[in-house]
Amino acid sequence: MSWIGDFWRSTLGKKAVMAVSGIVLFGYVLLHMLGNLKLYFPQYAEGEHAGEFPLNVYAGWLREMGAPLLPGEGALWLVRIVLIVAVVAHVWAAWQVSRASWRARPRPYEKVDRVEADYASRTMRWGGVILLLFVIYHLLHLTTGQAHTDFVPGDVYHNVVAGFSVWWVSAIYIAANLALGLHLYHGLWSMFQSLGWSHPVWKPWRRYFAVAFAVVVTVGNVSFPVAVLTGLVG
Ligand code: HEM
Repeated sequence: MSWIGDFWRSTLGKKAVMAVSGIVLFGYVLLHMLGNLKLYFPQYAEGEHAGEFPLNVYAGWLREMGAPLLPGEGALWLVRIVLIVAVVAHVWAAWQVSRASWRARPRPYEKVDRVEADYASRTMRWGGVILLLFVIYHLLHLTTGQAHTDFVPGDVYHNVVAGFSVWWVSAIYIAANLALGLHLYHGLWSMFQSLGWSHPVWKPWRRYFAVAFAVVVTVGNVSFPVAVLTGLVG
């Protein structure tokens, strides 16, 4: 079984941990953005949920999914556990890979000659730290409400609209989501590199794919605070 330990300790193993946890986190941000598009849907006119906002009905469903097989919020907690494990693994692998590269070059280059990969990995490290801070703020703002001045438990539509009506809150979200876009782009691109998909035939497609996915998630997420600030929603 020592090959597992060897793989875990190798740079390739750490990059694999980063890629797999990155795919999980990437899948989450994509689904989260798609789910949040319900912010644009008007209140139900009739039926069981008449008068309710689809975003709130969807949020209620997320809490109940898996019932009655699983106890209250059971499936949601399973998703949360997978996310927490993915974040810890991703940060751990990033830290290990960064440490290895600092050890390989303890003193900075005398002549500042920054190649693209060097620039990208620095952006990834800073971007990662910014995203971690943003996620902590975001949870306190829209999940638990301590960082929200007018939080109503269960009324997700209200919490989002009231939250983004404060211009500087929207500014934080827009800046963090632009950082997320860069992180997704560089992350996807370098994941393909680690996987060895560098054949000339694939190279341009790799970039198009990374750009397309980063742009879709970023445009979707940035649109929410912009829609509230411009009065399109609310
Ligand atoms: C403008 C963009 C975003 C909006 C409007 C938004 C909205 C929300 C809302 C309303 C909740 C609470 C849902 C509920 O209580 O049912 C939530 C939870 C959450 N969001 Fe976001 N979000 C955005 C961006 C992001 C980003 C970029 C990330 C990750 C990098 C993220 C990660 C999370 C996480 C981890 C939760 C907690 C889910 C849970 O455990 O219940 N969100 N978001």
